[in-house]
Amino acid sequence: MRNHRKFLIWLLFAALLASVPATWAAAMRPVHAPHAMVASVHELASRAGLEMMRAGGNAVDAAVAAGFALAVVHPQAGNLGGGGFMLLRLADGNTHFIDYREKAPARASADMYLDLQGNVIPKVSLVGFKAIGVPGSVAGMVYAEKKYGKLTLERVMAPAIRLARDGFFLAWEDAQDLHDEDLAKFPESRRIFQRNGNYYEAGEVFRQPDLAQTLERIEKNPDDFYHGAMAKEIAVAIQKGGGLIAAEDLANYEVKEREPIRGSYREYDIISAPPPSSGGVALMEILNILEGYDLSKYGNRSAAAIHLISEAFRRAFFDRAEFLGDPDFSKIPVAQLIDKKYGVAWRESINPERASLSKDLKRPVIFNELERYAKLNLQPWSGPEPENTTHYSVIDPEGNAVAVTTTLNDSFGSRVTALGFLLNDEMDDFSSKQGVPNAYGLIQGAANAIGPGKRPLSAMTPTIVLKDGKLFLVLGSPGGPTIITTVANILIGVVDFGLDIQEAVNAPRFHHQWLPDILLLEDQISPDTRRLLEAKGHKLVVRHLWGDGECIRVDLNTGERLGASDGRNNGKAVGY
Ligand code: DON
Repeated sequence: MRNHRKFLIWLLFAALLASVPATWAAAMRPVHAPHAMVASVHELASRAGLEMMRAGGNAVDAAVAAGFALAVVHPQAGNLGGGGFMLLRLADGNTHFIDYREKAPARASADMYLDLQGNVIPKVSLVGFKAIGVPGSVAGMVYAEKKYGKLTLERVMAPAIRLARDGFFLAWEDAQDLHDEDLAKFPESRRIFQRNGNYYEAGEVFRQPDLAQTLERIEKNPDDFYHGAMAKEIAVAIQKGGGLIAAEDLANYEVKEREPIRGSYREYDIISAPPPSSGGVALMEILNILEGYDLSKYGNRSAAAIHLISEAFRRAFFDRAEFLGDPDFSKIPVAQLIDKKYGVAWRESINPERASLSKDLKRPVIFNELERYAKLNLQPWSGPEPENTTHYSVIDPEGNAVAVTTTLNDSFGSRVTALGFLLNDEMDDFSSKQGVPNAYGLIQGAANAIGPGKRPLSAMTPTIVLKDGKLFLVLGSPGGPTIITTVANILIGVVDFGLDIQEAVNAPRFHHQWLPDILLLEDQISPDTRRLLEAKGHKLVVRHLWGDGECIRVDLNTGERLGASDGRNNGKAVGY
Protein backbone atom coordinates (compact mmCIF):
# COMPACT_ATOMS: atom_id res chain seq x y z
CA MET A 1 0.00 0.00 0.00
CA ARG A 2 2.79 2.34 1.01
CA ASN A 3 4.72 1.50 -2.16
CA HIS A 4 1.65 2.08 -4.24
CA ARG A 5 1.21 5.54 -2.69
CA LYS A 6 4.85 6.35 -3.25
CA PHE A 7 4.54 5.34 -6.89
CA LEU A 8 1.59 7.70 -7.34
CA ILE A 9 3.54 10.55 -5.73
CA TRP A 10 6.43 9.91 -8.10
CA LEU A 11 4.09 9.85 -11.04
CA LEU A 12 2.79 13.25 -9.97
CA PHE A 13 6.36 14.55 -9.63
CA ALA A 14 7.29 13.25 -13.06
CA ALA A 15 4.20 14.84 -14.62
CA LEU A 16 5.01 18.14 -12.94
CA LEU A 17 8.60 18.05 -14.13
CA ALA A 18 7.54 17.22 -17.66
CA SER A 19 5.25 20.25 -17.66
CA VAL A 20 7.79 22.88 -16.61
CA PRO A 21 9.56 24.89 -19.26
CA ALA A 22 13.20 23.99 -19.93
CA THR A 23 14.42 27.41 -18.78
CA TRP A 24 12.93 26.76 -15.35
CA ALA A 25 14.44 23.31 -14.98
CA ALA A 26 17.89 24.42 -16.05
CA ALA A 27 17.82 27.75 -14.13
CA MET A 28 19.84 29.39 -16.89
CA ARG A 29 17.80 32.59 -16.96
CA PRO A 30 16.53 34.76 -14.14
CA VAL A 31 12.84 34.72 -13.26
CA HIS A 32 11.19 37.99 -14.39
CA ALA A 33 8.42 39.71 -12.43
CA PRO A 34 7.12 43.27 -12.60
CA HIS A 35 6.45 43.88 -8.89
CA ALA A 36 7.92 41.57 -6.29
CA MET A 37 10.40 38.72 -5.93
CA VAL A 38 11.63 36.26 -3.32
CA ALA A 39 14.66 34.02 -3.93
CA SER A 40 15.46 31.28 -1.43
CA VAL A 41 16.84 27.76 -1.26
CA HIS A 42 13.34 26.24 -0.94
CA GLU A 43 10.38 26.97 -3.17
CA LEU A 44 7.90 26.66 -0.29
CA ALA A 45 9.76 29.32 1.68
CA SER A 46 9.89 31.61 -1.36
CA ARG A 47 6.16 31.10 -1.84
CA ALA A 48 5.46 31.85 1.83
CA GLY A 49 7.19 35.20 1.32
CA LEU A 50 5.33 35.92 -1.90
CA GLU A 51 2.00 35.09 -0.24
CA MET A 52 2.63 37.91 2.28
CA MET A 53 3.28 40.50 -0.41
CA ARG A 54 0.19 39.46 -2.35
CA ALA A 55 -1.76 39.94 0.89
CA GLY A 56 -0.54 43.55 1.15
CA GLY A 57 2.55 42.88 3.25
CA ASN A 58 5.93 44.42 2.55
CA ALA A 59 9.39 42.89 1.99
CA VAL A 60 9.95 42.50 5.74
CA ASP A 61 6.69 40.57 6.18
CA ALA A 62 7.81 38.40 3.27
CA ALA A 63 11.29 37.89 4.72
CA VAL A 64 9.96 36.94 8.15
CA ALA A 65 7.43 34.53 6.62
CA ALA A 66 10.19 32.98 4.50
CA GLY A 67 12.50 32.80 7.52
CA PHE A 68 10.00 30.91 9.67
CA ALA A 69 9.10 28.67 6.72
CA LEU A 70 12.77 27.81 6.16
CA ALA A 71 12.96 26.68 9.79
CA VAL A 72 10.42 24.02 8.79
CA VAL A 73 11.29 23.04 5.23
CA HIS A 74 15.08 23.47 5.39
CA PRO A 75 16.14 22.20 8.82
CA GLN A 76 19.76 21.96 7.63
CA ALA A 77 20.07 25.72 8.06
CA GLY A 78 16.70 27.47 8.33
CA ASN A 79 16.15 27.85 12.02
CA LEU A 80 14.60 28.94 15.26
CA GLY A 81 17.66 27.81 17.20
CA GLY A 82 20.34 29.79 15.40
CA GLY A 83 21.00 33.39 14.45
CA GLY A 84 21.31 35.70 11.51
CA PHE A 85 21.59 39.11 9.99
CA MET A 86 18.88 41.05 8.19
CA LEU A 87 19.84 43.97 5.97
CA LEU A 88 17.03 46.30 4.88
CA ARG A 89 17.07 49.05 2.35
CA LEU A 90 13.71 50.72 2.39
CA ALA A 91 12.14 52.45 -0.57
CA ASP A 92 12.70 55.81 1.18
CA GLY A 93 16.45 55.16 1.00
CA ASN A 94 16.96 54.37 4.71
CA THR A 95 19.05 51.35 5.56
CA HIS A 96 18.92 49.17 8.68
CA PHE A 97 20.94 46.20 9.81
CA ILE A 98 19.42 43.86 12.37
CA ASP A 99 21.92 41.67 14.22
CA TYR A 100 20.42 38.56 15.80
CA ARG A 101 23.63 36.60 15.95
CA GLU A 102 23.94 34.04 18.75
CA LYS A 103 25.79 34.96 21.94
CA ALA A 104 28.08 32.91 24.15
CA PRO A 105 26.35 31.96 27.41
CA ALA A 106 27.46 33.64 30.68
CA ARG A 107 29.31 30.50 31.74
CA ALA A 108 31.41 30.37 28.54
CA SER A 109 35.15 30.94 28.88
CA ALA A 110 38.09 31.47 26.55
CA ASP A 111 39.52 28.00 27.18
CA MET A 112 36.29 26.00 27.36
CA TYR A 113 37.24 23.79 24.40
CA LEU A 114 40.81 23.08 25.55
CA ASP A 115 42.05 20.03 27.42
CA LEU A 116 44.42 20.19 30.40
CA GLN A 117 47.40 20.38 28.06
CA GLY A 118 45.87 23.38 26.31
CA ASN A 119 44.96 21.50 23.11
CA VAL A 120 41.63 21.94 21.35
CA ILE A 121 39.35 18.96 22.12
CA PRO A 122 38.05 17.82 18.71
CA LYS A 123 34.37 18.36 17.83
CA VAL A 124 33.15 19.70 21.22
CA SER A 125 32.55 23.13 19.71
CA LEU A 126 30.77 21.51 16.75
CA VAL A 127 28.50 18.68 17.82
CA GLY A 128 26.47 18.36 21.01
CA PHE A 129 25.21 20.49 23.86
CA LYS A 130 28.42 22.42 24.61
CA ALA A 131 28.54 23.79 21.06
CA ILE A 132 25.32 25.77 21.42
CA GLY A 133 25.25 29.56 21.51
CA VAL A 134 22.23 31.49 22.81
CA PRO A 135 19.87 31.58 19.81
CA GLY A 136 18.83 34.94 18.36
CA SER A 137 16.64 34.06 15.37
CA VAL A 138 13.24 34.18 17.06
CA ALA A 139 14.06 37.52 18.72
CA GLY A 140 15.41 38.90 15.46
CA MET A 141 12.52 37.88 13.25
CA VAL A 142 9.92 39.05 15.77
CA TYR A 143 11.79 42.36 16.19
CA ALA A 144 11.95 42.91 12.43
CA GLU A 145 8.27 42.06 12.01
CA LYS A 146 7.11 44.38 14.78
CA LYS A 147 9.32 47.29 13.80
CA TYR A 148 9.31 47.14 10.01
CA GLY A 149 6.54 44.77 8.94
CA LYS A 150 2.94 45.68 8.10
CA LEU A 151 1.14 42.43 8.89
CA THR A 152 0.67 40.58 12.19
CA LEU A 153 2.98 37.91 13.57
CA GLU A 154 0.05 35.52 13.31
CA ARG A 155 -0.23 36.21 9.58
CA VAL A 156 3.48 35.90 8.75
CA MET A 157 3.92 32.73 10.81
CA ALA A 158 0.85 31.01 9.35
CA PRO A 159 2.66 29.35 6.40
CA ALA A 160 5.37 27.92 8.68
CA ILE A 161 2.82 26.55 11.13
CA ARG A 162 0.85 25.02 8.27
CA LEU A 163 3.97 23.42 6.76
CA ALA A 164 5.08 22.00 10.11
CA ARG A 165 1.64 20.65 11.00
CA ASP A 166 0.46 19.34 7.62
CA GLY A 167 3.91 18.49 6.30
CA PHE A 168 5.46 18.86 2.87
CA PHE A 169 6.92 16.56 0.23
CA LEU A 170 10.60 15.90 0.78
CA ALA A 171 12.88 16.42 -2.21
CA TRP A 172 15.56 13.82 -2.88
CA GLU A 173 18.40 16.05 -1.67
CA ASP A 174 16.62 16.93 1.56
CA ALA A 175 15.80 13.29 2.30
CA GLN A 176 19.47 12.40 1.71
CA ASP A 177 20.66 15.17 4.03
CA LEU A 178 18.53 13.76 6.84
CA HIS A 179 20.80 10.68 6.89
CA ASP A 180 23.37 12.81 8.73
CA GLU A 181 25.36 10.55 11.08
CA ASP A 182 25.67 13.07 13.87
CA LEU A 183 21.90 13.62 14.00
CA ALA A 184 21.59 9.93 14.91
CA LYS A 185 23.58 10.54 18.11
CA PHE A 186 20.78 12.55 19.75
CA PRO A 187 17.58 10.57 20.45
CA GLU A 188 15.22 13.52 19.96
CA SER A 189 16.87 14.42 16.63
CA ARG A 190 16.88 10.78 15.58
CA ARG A 191 13.18 10.47 16.42
CA ILE A 192 12.09 13.62 14.59
CA PHE A 193 14.40 13.80 11.59
CA GLN A 194 15.24 10.12 11.08
CA ARG A 195 12.03 8.43 12.28
CA ASN A 196 14.19 6.41 14.67
CA GLY A 197 16.26 4.94 11.86
CA ASN A 198 13.44 4.32 9.38
CA TYR A 199 14.71 7.16 7.21
CA TYR A 200 12.39 9.43 5.24
CA GLU A 201 12.52 8.99 1.50
CA ALA A 202 12.10 11.45 -1.34
CA GLY A 203 8.45 12.12 -2.04
CA GLU A 204 7.29 11.29 1.47
CA VAL A 205 5.39 13.88 3.48
CA PHE A 206 7.49 15.16 6.38
CA ARG A 207 5.36 16.41 9.30
CA GLN A 208 6.79 18.06 12.43
CA PRO A 209 4.05 18.28 15.07
CA ASP A 210 6.46 19.26 17.89
CA LEU A 211 7.76 22.13 15.81
CA ALA A 212 4.20 23.17 14.86
CA GLN A 213 3.37 23.42 18.54
CA THR A 214 6.47 25.50 19.30
CA LEU A 215 5.69 27.83 16.40
CA GLU A 216 2.15 28.25 17.71
CA ARG A 217 3.49 29.11 21.14
CA ILE A 218 5.86 31.70 19.62
CA GLU A 219 3.08 33.18 17.54
CA LYS A 220 0.84 33.59 20.63
CA ASN A 221 3.55 34.92 22.92
CA PRO A 222 7.00 35.39 21.36
CA ASP A 223 8.41 36.73 24.62
CA ASP A 224 7.88 33.31 26.21
CA PHE A 225 10.82 31.99 24.15
CA TYR A 226 13.20 34.28 26.05
CA HIS A 227 11.48 35.08 29.35
CA GLY A 228 8.86 32.42 30.03
CA ALA A 229 8.11 28.74 30.12
CA MET A 230 9.73 28.07 26.76
CA ALA A 231 12.99 29.66 27.90
CA LYS A 232 13.01 27.35 30.93
CA GLU A 233 12.23 24.28 28.83
CA ILE A 234 15.02 25.10 26.35
CA ALA A 235 17.54 25.69 29.15
CA VAL A 236 16.57 22.47 30.94
CA ALA A 237 16.93 20.45 27.73
CA ILE A 238 20.37 21.94 27.02
CA GLN A 239 21.66 21.63 30.58
CA LYS A 240 20.49 18.02 30.87
CA GLY A 241 22.88 17.22 28.03
CA GLY A 242 25.78 19.10 29.67
CA GLY A 243 25.37 22.43 27.84
CA LEU A 244 25.97 25.80 29.48
CA ILE A 245 22.90 27.80 28.50
CA ALA A 246 20.67 28.88 31.39
CA ALA A 247 17.25 30.55 31.28
CA GLU A 248 18.98 33.84 32.24
CA ASP A 249 21.10 33.64 29.09
CA LEU A 250 17.91 33.61 27.04
CA ALA A 251 16.47 36.44 29.16
CA ASN A 252 19.63 38.50 28.54
CA TYR A 253 19.61 37.98 24.78
CA GLU A 254 19.19 41.21 22.83
CA VAL A 255 18.78 42.05 19.18
CA LYS A 256 20.97 44.93 18.02
CA GLU A 257 20.55 47.38 15.19
CA ARG A 258 23.89 48.39 13.76
CA GLU A 259 25.14 50.75 11.07
CA PRO A 260 25.69 48.77 7.87
CA ILE A 261 29.06 48.95 6.12
CA ARG A 262 28.89 51.49 3.29
CA GLY A 263 31.29 51.85 0.40
CA SER A 264 31.47 52.15 -3.35
CA TYR A 265 32.80 50.06 -6.20
CA ARG A 266 33.13 51.81 -9.56
CA GLU A 267 29.75 53.54 -10.06
CA TYR A 268 27.91 51.36 -7.53
CA ASP A 269 27.14 51.91 -3.85
CA ILE A 270 27.62 48.91 -1.61
CA ILE A 271 25.68 48.31 1.62
CA SER A 272 26.72 45.26 3.61
CA ALA A 273 27.10 43.51 6.95
CA PRO A 274 29.13 45.19 9.73
CA PRO A 275 30.84 43.39 12.64
CA PRO A 276 30.18 40.96 14.26
CA SER A 277 30.22 39.87 10.65
CA SER A 278 33.49 40.14 8.81
CA GLY A 279 31.52 40.03 5.57
CA GLY A 280 31.00 43.68 4.72
CA VAL A 281 34.48 44.79 5.79
CA ALA A 282 36.18 42.00 3.83
CA LEU A 283 33.95 42.59 0.80
CA MET A 284 34.80 46.31 0.77
CA GLU A 285 38.52 45.60 1.17
CA ILE A 286 38.35 43.21 -1.78
CA LEU A 287 36.47 45.68 -3.96
CA ASN A 288 38.74 48.60 -3.01
CA ILE A 289 41.79 46.57 -4.03
CA LEU A 290 40.18 45.50 -7.31
CA GLU A 291 38.90 48.93 -8.29
CA GLY A 292 42.31 49.82 -9.71
CA TYR A 293 42.18 47.03 -12.31
CA ASP A 294 40.17 46.91 -15.49
CA LEU A 295 39.02 43.34 -14.86
CA SER A 296 36.71 43.31 -17.86
CA LYS A 297 39.63 43.39 -20.27
CA TYR A 298 40.94 40.04 -18.96
CA GLY A 299 37.64 38.21 -19.49
CA ASN A 300 35.35 36.35 -17.14
CA ARG A 301 37.08 33.42 -15.35
CA SER A 302 40.35 34.03 -17.21
CA ALA A 303 43.47 33.04 -15.28
CA ALA A 304 44.57 36.69 -15.17
CA ALA A 305 41.29 37.83 -13.58
CA ILE A 306 41.09 34.88 -11.17
CA HIS A 307 44.66 35.62 -10.08
CA LEU A 308 44.05 39.31 -9.30
CA ILE A 309 40.73 38.67 -7.57
CA SER A 310 42.24 35.85 -5.48
CA GLU A 311 45.11 38.08 -4.40
CA ALA A 312 42.52 40.58 -3.16
CA PHE A 313 40.73 37.74 -1.32
CA ARG A 314 44.01 36.65 0.29
CA ARG A 315 44.65 40.15 1.67
CA ALA A 316 41.15 40.73 3.00
CA PHE A 317 41.21 37.38 4.88
CA PHE A 318 44.64 38.23 6.33
CA ASP A 319 43.05 41.32 7.91
CA ARG A 320 39.93 39.44 8.91
CA ALA A 321 41.97 37.00 10.98
CA GLU A 322 43.72 39.77 12.84
CA PHE A 323 41.14 42.45 13.47
CA LEU A 324 37.58 41.20 13.27
CA GLY A 325 35.36 40.20 16.18
CA ASP A 326 32.40 41.41 18.24
CA PRO A 327 32.41 45.23 18.16
CA ASP A 328 30.75 45.32 21.59
CA PHE A 329 33.91 43.79 23.07
CA SER A 330 36.84 44.93 20.89
CA LYS A 331 37.61 48.04 18.95
CA ILE A 332 37.49 47.05 15.29
CA PRO A 333 39.32 49.46 12.94
CA VAL A 334 36.53 49.36 10.36
CA ALA A 335 37.08 52.85 8.92
CA GLN A 336 40.74 52.15 8.20
CA LEU A 337 40.16 48.71 6.75
CA ILE A 338 37.58 49.94 4.25
CA ASP A 339 39.45 53.14 3.38
CA LYS A 340 40.17 53.36 -0.35
CA LYS A 341 43.76 54.49 0.37
CA TYR A 342 44.32 51.22 2.19
CA GLY A 343 43.02 49.31 -0.83
CA VAL A 344 45.47 51.20 -3.05
CA ALA A 345 48.35 50.35 -0.71
CA TRP A 346 47.42 46.66 -0.71
CA ARG A 347 47.12 46.68 -4.50
CA GLU A 348 50.73 47.82 -4.82
CA SER A 349 51.83 44.58 -3.18
CA ILE A 350 50.16 42.45 -5.86
CA ASN A 351 52.29 41.06 -8.69
CA PRO A 352 50.02 40.39 -11.70
CA GLU A 353 52.32 37.55 -12.76
CA ARG A 354 53.05 35.77 -9.45
CA ALA A 355 51.00 34.50 -6.55
CA SER A 356 52.02 36.00 -3.20
CA LEU A 357 52.95 33.63 -0.40
CA SER A 358 50.48 33.96 2.46
CA LYS A 359 53.18 33.38 5.05
CA ASP A 360 55.19 36.34 3.74
CA LEU A 361 52.31 38.77 3.40
CA LYS A 362 53.06 42.16 4.99
CA ARG A 363 50.37 44.64 5.85
CA PRO A 364 51.01 48.04 4.21
CA VAL A 365 51.89 50.59 6.85
CA ILE A 366 49.58 53.53 6.41
CA PHE A 367 47.40 53.50 9.55
CA ASN A 368 48.80 53.24 13.09
CA GLU A 369 45.74 51.30 14.21
CA LEU A 370 46.65 48.48 11.85
CA GLU A 371 50.26 48.16 12.96
CA ARG A 372 49.80 45.97 15.98
CA TYR A 373 50.00 42.78 13.96
CA ALA A 374 51.65 40.06 16.02
CA LYS A 375 52.49 36.81 14.34
CA LEU A 376 49.94 34.19 15.29
CA ASN A 377 51.31 30.77 16.01
CA LEU A 378 49.71 29.16 13.00
CA GLN A 379 48.76 25.54 12.69
CA PRO A 380 47.72 23.82 9.48
CA TRP A 381 44.12 22.96 8.74
CA SER A 382 43.06 19.45 7.89
CA GLY A 383 39.49 19.50 9.14
CA PRO A 384 36.19 18.52 7.57
CA GLU A 385 34.24 21.03 5.55
CA PRO A 386 30.88 21.57 7.17
CA GLU A 387 28.01 22.81 5.06
CA ASN A 388 25.02 25.00 5.35
CA THR A 389 23.58 28.29 6.27
CA THR A 390 21.01 29.89 4.08
CA HIS A 391 20.42 33.21 2.38
CA TYR A 392 17.26 34.70 0.95
CA SER A 393 16.52 37.96 -0.85
CA VAL A 394 13.27 39.89 -1.19
CA ILE A 395 12.06 42.96 -3.08
CA ASP A 396 8.48 44.20 -2.72
CA PRO A 397 6.32 46.28 -5.08
CA GLU A 398 7.29 49.57 -3.35
CA GLY A 399 10.98 48.83 -3.80
CA ASN A 400 11.80 47.85 -0.20
CA ALA A 401 14.61 45.29 -0.23
CA VAL A 402 15.64 42.73 2.35
CA ALA A 403 18.72 40.48 2.40
CA VAL A 404 18.84 37.84 5.14
CA THR A 405 21.54 35.30 5.88
CA THR A 406 20.79 32.92 8.73
CA THR A 407 22.54 29.86 10.12
CA LEU A 408 22.87 27.05 12.61
CA ASN A 409 26.56 27.08 11.57
CA ASP A 410 27.03 23.71 9.93
CA SER A 411 24.28 21.39 8.65
CA PHE A 412 21.71 20.78 11.39
CA GLY A 413 23.88 22.82 13.79
CA SER A 414 24.87 21.03 17.00
CA ARG A 415 22.44 18.22 15.96
CA VAL A 416 20.67 18.75 19.29
CA THR A 417 16.88 19.17 19.12
CA ALA A 418 14.72 20.75 21.81
CA LEU A 419 11.00 21.57 21.51
CA GLY A 420 11.05 20.26 17.94
CA PHE A 421 13.78 22.57 16.60
CA LEU A 422 17.52 22.21 16.09
CA LEU A 423 20.05 24.23 18.06
CA ASN A 424 23.11 25.85 16.55
CA ASP A 425 26.82 25.05 16.95
CA GLU A 426 27.80 28.67 16.48
CA MET A 427 30.37 28.49 19.31
CA ASP A 428 32.76 27.03 16.73
CA ASP A 429 32.85 30.40 14.99
CA PHE A 430 34.88 31.71 17.91
CA SER A 431 38.57 30.89 17.91
CA SER A 432 38.84 28.07 20.43
CA LYS A 433 42.55 28.82 20.52
CA GLN A 434 44.42 31.62 18.77
CA GLY A 435 46.16 30.46 15.62
CA VAL A 436 44.34 27.11 15.50
CA PRO A 437 41.95 26.80 12.54
CA ASN A 438 38.22 26.26 13.16
CA ALA A 439 36.00 23.92 11.14
CA TYR A 440 36.36 26.18 8.08
CA GLY A 441 40.13 26.36 8.36
CA LEU A 442 39.83 29.96 9.52
CA ILE A 443 42.59 31.30 11.72
CA GLN A 444 41.34 33.96 14.07
CA GLY A 445 42.84 36.30 16.61
CA ALA A 446 42.20 37.74 20.06
CA ALA A 447 39.27 39.87 18.92
CA ASN A 448 37.37 36.63 18.35
CA ALA A 449 38.27 34.77 21.56
CA ILE A 450 35.34 33.21 23.46
CA GLY A 451 33.88 35.44 26.16
CA PRO A 452 30.60 35.47 28.11
CA GLY A 453 27.88 37.36 26.26
CA LYS A 454 30.06 37.77 23.18
CA ARG A 455 28.95 37.20 19.59
CA PRO A 456 31.20 34.93 17.51
CA LEU A 457 32.65 36.42 14.34
CA SER A 458 30.66 35.59 11.23
CA ALA A 459 31.32 35.67 7.51
CA MET A 460 27.67 36.13 6.56
CA THR A 461 27.41 38.87 3.95
CA PRO A 462 23.87 39.99 3.12
CA THR A 463 24.52 42.80 0.65
CA ILE A 464 22.55 45.41 -1.28
CA VAL A 465 23.98 47.32 -4.24
CA LEU A 466 22.69 50.62 -5.64
CA LYS A 467 23.33 52.24 -8.97
CA ASP A 468 22.80 56.00 -9.24
CA GLY A 469 21.11 55.82 -5.84
CA LYS A 470 18.60 53.24 -7.08
CA LEU A 471 18.17 49.68 -5.82
CA PHE A 472 20.10 47.37 -8.17
CA LEU A 473 21.15 44.09 -6.51
CA VAL A 474 20.22 42.06 -3.44
CA LEU A 475 22.88 39.42 -2.77
CA GLY A 476 23.98 36.71 -0.35
CA SER A 477 25.07 33.09 0.03
CA PRO A 478 25.96 30.42 2.61
CA GLY A 479 29.36 28.75 2.71
CA GLY A 480 31.34 29.83 5.80
CA PRO A 481 34.34 31.84 4.57
CA THR A 482 33.35 31.20 0.96
CA ILE A 483 30.29 33.38 1.60
CA ILE A 484 32.45 36.49 1.23
CA THR A 485 34.13 35.35 -1.97
CA THR A 486 30.86 34.04 -3.44
CA VAL A 487 29.18 37.40 -2.91
CA ALA A 488 32.23 39.17 -4.35
CA ASN A 489 32.26 36.81 -7.35
CA ILE A 490 28.57 37.39 -8.08
CA LEU A 491 28.91 41.17 -7.75
CA ILE A 492 32.03 41.29 -9.93
CA GLY A 493 30.31 38.99 -12.43
CA VAL A 494 27.52 41.52 -12.94
CA VAL A 495 29.56 44.73 -12.65
CA ASP A 496 32.81 43.83 -14.42
CA PHE A 497 31.89 40.98 -16.71
CA GLY A 498 28.38 42.04 -17.70
CA LEU A 499 26.76 38.75 -16.70
CA ASP A 500 23.05 38.66 -16.01
CA ILE A 501 22.22 37.84 -12.41
CA GLN A 502 21.51 34.16 -13.08
CA GLU A 503 24.77 33.74 -15.01
CA ALA A 504 26.66 35.48 -12.22
CA VAL A 505 25.12 33.18 -9.61
CA ASN A 506 25.80 30.07 -11.68
CA ALA A 507 29.34 31.03 -12.78
CA PRO A 508 32.12 28.75 -11.45
CA ARG A 509 33.46 29.95 -8.11
CA PHE A 510 36.92 30.38 -6.72
CA HIS A 511 38.06 31.17 -3.21
CA HIS A 512 41.16 32.15 -1.26
CA GLN A 513 41.16 32.80 2.48
CA TRP A 514 44.85 33.56 3.14
CA LEU A 515 45.35 30.35 5.11
CA PRO A 516 45.59 27.60 4.19
CA ASP A 517 47.52 29.04 1.24
CA ILE A 518 45.47 27.35 -1.46
CA LEU A 519 43.29 28.59 -4.26
CA LEU A 520 40.03 26.67 -4.21
CA LEU A 521 38.36 26.28 -7.61
CA GLU A 522 35.10 24.78 -8.72
CA ASP A 523 35.78 22.02 -11.21
CA GLN A 524 34.05 23.82 -14.09
CA ILE A 525 37.08 26.10 -14.31
CA SER A 526 38.92 24.61 -17.25
CA PRO A 527 42.13 22.57 -16.94
CA ASP A 528 44.04 25.02 -19.14
CA THR A 529 43.00 27.95 -16.95
CA ARG A 530 44.10 25.90 -13.95
CA ARG A 531 47.50 25.30 -15.55
CA LEU A 532 47.97 29.04 -16.10
CA LEU A 533 47.14 29.67 -12.44
CA GLU A 534 49.62 27.01 -11.34
CA ALA A 535 52.23 28.63 -13.53
CA LYS A 536 51.72 31.84 -11.55
CA GLY A 537 52.52 29.90 -8.38
CA HIS A 538 49.04 29.13 -6.99
CA LYS A 539 48.49 25.85 -5.17
CA LEU A 540 45.13 24.62 -6.42
CA VAL A 541 42.47 22.51 -4.79
CA VAL A 542 39.56 21.64 -7.06
CA ARG A 543 36.14 20.92 -5.61
CA HIS A 544 32.81 20.19 -7.23
CA LEU A 545 30.31 22.85 -6.13
CA TRP A 546 29.80 25.12 -3.17
CA GLY A 547 27.57 27.95 -2.00
CA ASP A 548 24.05 28.99 -2.86
CA GLY A 549 23.54 32.47 -4.28
CA GLU A 550 19.89 33.50 -3.87
CA CYS A 551 19.90 36.92 -5.47
CA ILE A 552 17.77 39.55 -7.21
CA ARG A 553 18.61 42.26 -9.71
CA VAL A 554 16.38 45.17 -10.62
CA ASP A 555 16.24 46.12 -14.30
CA LEU A 556 16.83 49.84 -13.98
CA ASN A 557 15.06 50.59 -17.27
CA THR A 558 11.85 48.67 -16.68
CA GLY A 559 11.81 48.24 -12.90
CA GLU A 560 11.43 44.49 -13.38
CA ARG A 561 12.67 42.22 -10.59
CA LEU A 562 14.98 39.48 -11.88
CA GLY A 563 15.29 36.60 -9.45
CA ALA A 564 18.18 34.13 -9.54
CA SER A 565 18.15 31.00 -7.45
CA ASP A 566 21.39 29.03 -7.63
CA GLY A 567 21.53 26.31 -10.30
CA ARG A 568 23.61 24.25 -7.84
CA ASN A 569 20.67 23.73 -5.53
CA ASN A 570 16.97 23.14 -5.35
CA GLY A 571 15.89 26.68 -4.56
CA LYS A 572 13.49 28.86 -6.45
CA ALA A 573 12.96 32.53 -7.16
CA VAL A 574 9.27 33.39 -7.38
CA GLY A 575 7.64 36.67 -8.23
CA TYR A 576 4.55 38.42 -9.50
O1 DON B 1 28.45 32.82 10.53
C1 DON B 1 29.25 32.22 9.82
O2 DON B 1 30.08 32.76 9.15
C2 DON B 1 29.18 30.71 9.75
N1 DON B 1 28.55 30.18 10.92
C3 DON B 1 28.47 30.33 8.51
C4 DON B 1 28.49 28.86 8.28
C5 DON B 1 28.16 28.49 6.90
O3 DON B 1 27.90 29.30 6.06
C6 DON B 1 28.20 27.06 6.57
N2 DON B 1 27.71 26.88 5.22
N3 DON B 1 27.99 26.33 4.30
